[in-house]
Amino acid sequence: MEVKEKTIYKLGFDQKDKTQLTSKLNLLLASYHVHYQKLRNFHWNIEGENFFELHGKFEELYNFSKVNIDDIAERIRVFGDRPMASLQEYLKYSTIKEPNGIPDSNEMVISILGDFEVLIKQMVDILDLANQIGDVSTIDLLTKILKQTEKYFWMFRSFVS
Ligand SMILES: [Fe+2]
Repeated sequence: MEVKEKTIYKLGFDQKDKTQLTSKLNLLLASYHVHYQKLRNFHWNIEGENFFELHGKFEELYNFSKVNIDDIAERIRVFGDRPMASLQEYLKYSTIKEPNGIPDSNEMVISILGDFEVLIKQMVDILDLANQIGDVSTIDLLTKILKQTEKYFWMFRSFVS
């Protein structure tokens, strides 16, 4: 009896392009996870006159991040690759670093602003590659996240200035 080779289903992208894209998405995922945990930390530990405002805003942001993390990880799976899934890997590969101790409320906002800069830079870089290889679905996904992150960036910058 003839043994048929297992069919490998692929999206229409060059293997090298695809690997480059998912590698970059994985680095974004790692940064996003550290950012997410930082937001939870700040949500729990915020003190002072801005408590109610920032406690709520950090919660809004970690919920926004949670959705984005899932969408980015699942986009990597769509390509057949594996998203980083351990805290060790996230800490190792994240461009965003964990805070030392508990910052005051103003330092928290400045720290999150710095995170936005990193995330925006990483997303713009991935969008550039996605444009080059015609990956419209990744463009669609990241454009939405980027647009909202830029809006948060403006709001946080206005808060500290
Ligand atoms: Fe809470």
